[in-house]
Amino acid sequence: MSKHHQKVVLVGDGAVGSAYAFAMMQQGLAEELVIVDVIKERTVGDALDLEDAQVFTAPKQIYSGDYSDAKDADLVVITAGAPQKPGETRLDLVNKNLKILSSIVQPIVDSGFDGIFVVAANPVDILTYATWKFSGFPKNKVIGSGTSLDSSRLRVALGNKLELDPRSIEAYILGEHGDTEFAAYDEATVGGVPLKTYAHNKGVTDDELADIEDKVRNKAYEIINRKGATYYGVATSLMRITRAIFRDENAILPVGASLEGEYGLDDIFIGTPAIINASGLAGVVEIPLSDDEKAKMANSAKTLKQVTKDGLA
Ligand code: NAI
Ligand code: 2OP
Repeated sequence: MSKHHQKVVLVGDGAVGSAYAFAMMQQGLAEELVIVDVIKERTVGDALDLEDAQVFTAPKQIYSGDYSDAKDADLVVITAGAPQKPGETRLDLVNKNLKILSSIVQPIVDSGFDGIFVVAANPVDILTYATWKFSGFPKNKVIGSGTSLDSSRLRVALGNKLELDPRSIEAYILGEHGDTEFAAYDEATVGGVPLKTYAHNKGVTDDELADIEDKVRNKAYEIINRKGATYYGVATSLMRITRAIFRDENAILPVGASLEGEYGLDDIFIGTPAIINASGLAGVVEIPLSDDEKAKMANSAKTLKQVTKDGLA
C-alpha cells in the first residue's frame, strides 16, 4: 500500500513560519507544503527559495497558496500574527492577534478542511482556544504549541547545570506559555531518580533550581531584546508535534491541550503533557501536582480565562 501523501498548509510566513518551513524541508516530513500569508509576494519568494534546498534534502511540492488549499490538507499550522516588541508581554498581543486569527480560521473551515490545527501565534493558549471556538472542530483536532518550547528551555538549562544530555531529563513547564508558567519540579525525574534528589546530590540547591525556572520564564524576553524575535526553538518544537502526528507516534509531548477536568480545570487550553498521534490529541497526561504547584496551575488558568473572556467578549 502506498504511503498517504501528507500535506501541510502553513499560515504565516514570518520569522516563525519560514523557520518551520525550513525545518520541514530538512526533515523531509510532509510531501506537500503550501505557504499562505497576507504578504503574497513573500510566500512566492519563500517557496522558490525553499525549493532550491530539495536536491540536498528530499523532493517536495512547495508553493504559495491560499486558504482553499486547506481542503485536503492534513495539518494547518498557524504562525500568523504580530510578535512581541521589546517590553511587550504575549498577553499584550491578544486583541491584535485574535482579529488576525478570526480572518484565518473561517476560510479554512469553509474550504472543507478536516485535519488538525496546530497553533503557535501568541498568546498561544488563548489563540488555540479561539481556534477551537471559531472552527467548531472537536477538541482533539486543535493543538497549541503550549509549553513545548518552555519545557525544552527548561531541559536545556537543567542539562547545562547538571551536566546531562537534556533529552535524558524528564521535566515540564506547565500552565500558560507566558509569565505565569511554572516548572513542575516536584515530579521531574532524571534516569528514574527524582530531579530534586539528583540535583541536591550534585550540590545544586533549590534556590538555583528556582533561578533556572525564572530564567526559562524570561528567556523569550532575553532573546527578543537582543535579536527582535524568537523562532528556531518554536519552529523545531512545531516540527516535533508535526512528526508525532504524521508518524502516529503516541508520543507524550508538552503542548497546549484542552482540559476536561484534569488539574480541576475545564474550558481552557493550557500547557500540559499530552499524547499526540495521527488523531491529534489522544489524551491529556495529568501530572499529580504538589499543593504548591496546584496553586500555580490555578493562577495560570485564572489569568488565561480572564484575558480570554475579555478578548472574546
Ligand atoms: P512575523 O511578524 O515575522 O510574522 C508574522 C506573519 O504573519 C507575517 O508574515 C504577516 O504578514 C503574517 N500575517 C499577519 N496577518 C495575517 C493574516 N491575516 N493572514 C495571514 N498572515 C498574516 O512574526 P513571527 O516572529 O513569525 O511570530 C509569529 C507569531 O508567533 C507571533 O504571535 C509570536 O508571538 C508567536 N511566537 C510563538 C512562539 C511560541 O512558542 N508559541 C514562539 C515565538 C513566536
Ligand atoms: C517565545 O517564548 C516569544 O513566545 C515566544 O519565544
